[in-house]
Amino acid sequence: MDLTITDRGLLQVAQRGGPPVLLHPVWLRERLPDAAVLDPRTGQRLQEAAETPRDLRVVSAEPDGTIAFSDGFATRLPSDWLTNAIATCPAAGHHVHWDATLDRGRFPAADLADLRADPAALSALLEELDAYGFAVVRGVPIEMDGGLALAGLMGPIRITNWGGMADVKAIPNAYDLTMTPRHLEPHSDNPYRDPVPGYILLHCLENDADGGDSTLVDGFHAAAILRRDDPAGFATLASTDVTFRYRDDTAFLEHHAPLIARNAAGDVVQIRYSNRTEMIGRLPIDRLDAYYAARAAFWQLIAPASPLTLRFRLQPGELLMMDNYRLLHGRTGYTLATGSRHMRQCYMDRDTVQSRRRLLQVA
Ligand SMILES: [Fe+2]
Repeated sequence: MDLTITDRGLLQVAQRGGPPVLLHPVWLRERLPDAAVLDPRTGQRLQEAAETPRDLRVVSAEPDGTIAFSDGFATRLPSDWLTNAIATCPAAGHHVHWDATLDRGRFPAADLADLRADPAALSALLEELDAYGFAVVRGVPIEMDGGLALAGLMGPIRITNWGGMADVKAIPNAYDLTMTPRHLEPHSDNPYRDPVPGYILLHCLENDADGGDSTLVDGFHAAAILRRDDPAGFATLASTDVTFRYRDDTAFLEHHAPLIARNAAGDVVQIRYSNRTEMIGRLPIDRLDAYYAARAAFWQLIAPASPLTLRFRLQPGELLMMDNYRLLHGRTGYTLATGSRHMRQCYMDRDTVQSRRRLLQVA
């Protein structure tokens, strides 16, 4: 290991084929694989990092990885530890933006039997789910709770005020427009919840009525286009909290958040779009003008006839798994007199699915 120390006491690590990497002494200290710093069993930190002296310096670094600090603490780094520590988020996924040209034959897809039999097949599907935001699983038992066979491979489902696995079919006196034969505009589910359900598992039991095709839009792709073509509109949607609300006799669910959410680095991390449940507050007129213009611009990108909209038909025994932080889903209207359309759906939390993906990466 080629280690040197700068005048300021930073550790400088030589890199093959690139500039050296400078490591802050506190950054290094607070993650040292030393039983005095991190609990060996859990990997959790034992020392209060905020109390680390901010003028800490590295005072010596030996070729065998022994590092000493200005407060007298010394440890020996295992080989390869520095290399791994320097790499940024090696497990982070990547997003593939798609549009209506994505053929059904290129959809991320797998058979449930293969996912059950082979963890590598489940791992591959979860990586594709992460990249594309959706996946189709075939061969799911055509029975009321058949979708739980897939969910169980990943973890517990999210229980809401509607229970776990719930019907999506037309009923009299529907409590939600989902439960009617009406078309559904592209939307994300339940933005009035906190947290919003991370993934939707939509399992098809019957689908032989006229109409009832599924639609999907890559919301991250739409947001990227808006950001490129209408930066002011993008900034408006990303910085304006709106109210999402659902109310019935037993539930009053409300959440305030922007249509486009970013992380601290400015990357888009969540799309909320739900015409049925969104109401903006009484903002100043000019801010409302800006919001309505920006929302209209975003709608043009995700509207059913847009070049971003995928349209396809789910067959009985297929289950469509969707990233509810990224995708906007909908359906065409259907005619009850011509047949039946019966889906069942449940939610899974984001961390549940991501946990399975990460565990399978290291398995
Ligand atoms: Fe929905």
